[in-house]
Amino acid sequence: MAGRATLVGAGPGDPELLTLKALRALSSADVVLYDKLVDPSVLDLAPRHARRIDVGKRCGRHAMSQAAINALLVREVRTGAHVVRLKGGDPFVFGRGGEELEALRAAGAAVEVVPGITAALAVAARLGLPLTHRGLARGLHLITAHGAEEDLPAHDWRALAEAGGTLAVYMGSRTLPRVAAALIDAGMAPETPAIAVENASLPSERRIPATLGAIAAAVSAAAVEGPTLVLIGAVVALAGSAAASGRAIERHAA
Ligand SMILES: C[S@@+](CC[C@H](N)C(=O)[O-])C[C@H]1O[C@@H](n2cnc3c(N)ncnc32)[C@H](O)[C@@H]1O
Repeated sequence: MAGRATLVGAGPGDPELLTLKALRALSSADVVLYDKLVDPSVLDLAPRHARRIDVGKRCGRHAMSQAAINALLVREVRTGAHVVRLKGGDPFVFGRGGEELEALRAAGAAVEVVPGITAALAVAARLGLPLTHRGLARGLHLITAHGAEEDLPAHDWRALAEAGGTLAVYMGSRTLPRVAAALIDAGMAPETPAIAVENASLPSERRIPATLGAIAAAVSAAAVEGPTLVLIGAVVALAGSAAASGRAIERHAA
């Protein structure tokens, strides 16, 4: 096959958080397939002549199915193009990058994967809180709160609660009340520090500090709309003063 594909992690939004490799891939793209988590400023880094194809979901419009995205990727590579698939954060963290890689490999396409900064890492850096910390957190779990048909995923909540590490909850805006309840039922203290961060790394970033017991109500009161990550665990207490202050919601100037 003449063309090639690069699955590129676009990071959490701030273009400064792209890798040099991502920038290089973008600047040689003939076609860019992007999803809703990719900030327009990142897309602007592709050459003018590159065709931009929005394959993501937006309000009032249906998302292209994963199967259709896979087929489109293969079709575009077959034209001989360098196809860049830009994905928010890292392609292999809740990004379905594995499925796209499989489809491209099955079609015999040359594929490269460029990692990106996943939301949990971006949030930790923004808040100045270490995700692991001697004496406080021996591990980090990245979990999704989004299961099939509105259900919670079948995590082993007791194991997560007992692990004593930091939990990074992706896609939790809707199911957060049930995630928090499941963790508390499994033995995690309701006083465990927690924080939700919406649009991390963008000028519209908002921080919502609370405890595990109160985080769902706080997020609901803040009416978050953008992508939101929730960190739970003792390390959250180490967040910089802005996040840890008594202010319920902070809008962060970039
Ligand atoms: C489909 S997952 C994609 C994750 C992405 N591949 C990554 O590595 O960050 C979408 C979820 O990622 C999180 N997320 C992505 N970008 C974010 C951001 N800038 N701020 C906060 N959370 C973000 C949110 O939990 C959102 O619901």
